[in-house]
Amino acid sequence: MEFRFKDGFLMGVSSASTQIEGGEIENNWLDWYRKGHIHDNTSPAVADDHWNRWEEDTQLMIDMKLQISRFGIEWARIQPAEDRIDKAAIQRYRKELMMLRDHGIRPLLTIHHFSNPMWFEEKGAFLKRENLHYFLKFAELAVKCFGDLASDYITINEPNVYASNSYMWGEWNPGHKSFKEYAAVLENFAYCHIKAYQMIHRVRSRMGYSDTKVGFANHLRVFDPKNEKNPAHRAAAKAAKWAFQGAITEAMTLGRFRLPLRDHWHIKEGLYTDFNGINYYSRSTIEGLHDGVREHSPINDLGWEIYPDGIVRVAADLMKVAQLPIWITENGTADTNDSFRPRYIAEHLKAISESDLPFERYYHWCFCDNWEWLEGQSARFGLVHVDYDTQKRTVKDSGRMFTEMIEAGGMTEDIWDRYVKDVEYNTND
Ligand code: BGC
Repeated sequence: MEFRFKDGFLMGVSSASTQIEGGEIENNWLDWYRKGHIHDNTSPAVADDHWNRWEEDTQLMIDMKLQISRFGIEWARIQPAEDRIDKAAIQRYRKELMMLRDHGIRPLLTIHHFSNPMWFEEKGAFLKRENLHYFLKFAELAVKCFGDLASDYITINEPNVYASNSYMWGEWNPGHKSFKEYAAVLENFAYCHIKAYQMIHRVRSRMGYSDTKVGFANHLRVFDPKNEKNPAHRAAAKAAKWAFQGAITEAMTLGRFRLPLRDHWHIKEGLYTDFNGINYYSRSTIEGLHDGVREHSPINDLGWEIYPDGIVRVAADLMKVAQLPIWITENGTADTNDSFRPRYIAEHLKAISESDLPFERYYHWCFCDNWEWLEGQSARFGLVHVDYDTQKRTVKDSGRMFTEMIEAGGMTEDIWDRYVKDVEYNTND
């Protein structure tokens, strides 16, 4: 089995501040942990201690020949109180950005990735329209502080995942269960994204740069009916897809608000992203209101279906909304023993490489194992193993394969034989 990456294709990793940095940072996640909601009762205050180990981690990225790195800044760290900015935290992020750039690793900076400072959370966070200016101010500060070191930005990570888990399914802070609130948060995210998109371009162009790229990380799933011949299943799959990802994609990308989303601001329709950023993990199999998993399928440690062709299907769908270069801003899997991750990576990259769509970048989720939100430390997504007692990092087989693929510009027979050939997935049979 061989395939070559497309010309100019870039490979790297993705992460999020709250999941790797550690520290008693007063945000919605430390609060949710203190309230006892994390399944394995591990605290985000531990995570990977990346806040202190950033040089070692960046050196490892360099050693692994990574070309791009997506990571986030922690709002609660930079702005611990409404009226306080921590300049030392800004300097620390600047150093990390500089080290990446000095070694030719291009940074992609995420401004919001599921984490709010508690002072913002307590005001009602993104549920309240009157709060949105706080986020926009923070985003502006970020670009002013880091704009000379980073040209590529993600405004908001997975608006639909955050809004549904926090406001519809009641699983994340603040644990609400309301479709109305879910839709309101999505509308507000769309507004924030569009305003931040314009602001980031404005600020960087005033700084003299013309290479700015701004987008958002759109969590897209394949929604298929459980029984293709059953009209009720087909209708449910279509409705779920629209409510979860269709409406928000149009709102964020084009400024077009269709029900259940409404435009409260008279936003002009246009193009509000410079790339199609996709986080792709799995497929939902639908027969009713809730997601299901296809029977007799390969699955990961969390029971999610492994469906590599889906990465091209969601991208093809998105290209109907906007014809833009595609950046896979996340793709990866929970596999504690790294027993099938090499195959997962190889098959997704194969699907990408053999497609005619303009895939430009692939950010693997994740670099190091890290604190996986509700799952805490117990779900491992990294190319690099982390021992949480000692914080020792050890590159996994999948990490070695990743580096070899970067060096080879794709998959070779030799790499396939050594890492993938004998790998079998677990199934839900
Ligand atoms: C999120 C990550 C998360 C990953 C795996 C994505 O939904 O952006 O923060 O760790 O999926 O669950």
